[in-house]
Amino acid sequence: MQERIYLSPPHMGGSEEGLTQEAFASNWIAPLGPFVDRFERALGDFLGGKHVCATCSGTGALHLGLLVLGVSKGDRVYCSDFTFSATANIIRYCQAEPVFIDSDWATWQMDPALLEAALERDKRENHLPKAVIVVDLYGISANFDAISPICEKYGVPILEDSAEALGSSYRSKKCGCFGRVAGFSFNGNKIITTSGGGAMVSDDEALVKRARFLATQAREPRPYYHHYEIGYNYRLSNILAALGCGQMEVLPERVSARRRICADYRRLLGDIEGLSFMPEPEGAESNCWLTVIQLDPGKVKLSPDELRLRLEAENIESRLTWKPMHLQPVFESAEIFGGDVCRTIFERGLCLPSGSALSAAQQERICEIIHKVLLG
Ligand SMILES: Cc1ncc(COP(=O)(O)O)c(C=O)c1O
Repeated sequence: MQERIYLSPPHMGGSEEGLTQEAFASNWIAPLGPFVDRFERALGDFLGGKHVCATCSGTGALHLGLLVLGVSKGDRVYCSDFTFSATANIIRYCQAEPVFIDSDWATWQMDPALLEAALERDKRENHLPKAVIVVDLYGISANFDAISPICEKYGVPILEDSAEALGSSYRSKKCGCFGRVAGFSFNGNKIITTSGGGAMVSDDEALVKRARFLATQAREPRPYYHHYEIGYNYRLSNILAALGCGQMEVLPERVSARRRICADYRRLLGDIEGLSFMPEPEGAESNCWLTVIQLDPGKVKLSPDELRLRLEAENIESRLTWKPMHLQPVFESAEIFGGDVCRTIFERGLCLPSGSALSAAQQERICEIIHKVLLG
């Protein structure tokens, strides 16, 4: 059996081990410490001068995002339907109500027309949402040219879920800079990793200060432990931040590697009728976190899951796309605007191995197998 090819494994650059050892040597083993400050600065600088609160997970970062936007019990929060469950779970953490918005076919991202229809209706009915969570899906920026002015018109802030999109941009503006607040993930399968980690970012220093306060148990600045609010234990450890500092050094290389891999998939699989790729809309420059294909059931003889199993038999990991939130039993009571586009993408989509260390030989092997199974 050939060596396993994973979907998106961690890819160390070289300096991570030395930096974590430095953290050990200084005995900054406890959460927080100088590497957390350094990691936050590196990320903030990369994003063009953002304030950053590093966290122990992307989910924690996004949860803090909703909290600093003031979301609380009974509020409505709009959310991209086509996403990972963490995006929507955080709404429930706040005891708020999710309302899901379908994607459009042009981008596979939140449909601006449906968003506007939902806002218009909710304005009429006097229950506008407290926030809109817009996901930059699979590393590609959402259509902010359309979405941002709509949210501005109704006075509703955007929480940008850029968990998958560090290093991507849209019309030269980096992902994570479109929301009033944004969240990133550094879990093991992301473009860079701290093994587990995340960051909440904003232009608004006061919001980031508030996030830090909530992330450290809402502890009041007194000599004894004193609390007016419920806090969380969400800060990143100094050891993991050291890893993150090393990973930040290689971020641009990781982005170009994944972009090259995506371009090679397009070149090597472009001749298969009925196989197409997730669109990269004009103006969007994706980090190509995962390359996603779509199989037209009228033209291709295998379903995405059958193709996944055929790849698995060759020790290659691929993954079905996110199952839309409105189809999740846990969210069955939530309202959905649209829903057919996400459902159809889910039925047709497959994520291909996209790790930045994937070799040309490995990728050719994957594409040969796909050719054989779909055309043979
Ligand atoms: C779109 C999206 N949102 C949120 C998360 C949550 O991030 P984490 O796993 O770091 O908590 C992830 C990744 O897992 C994700 O892909």
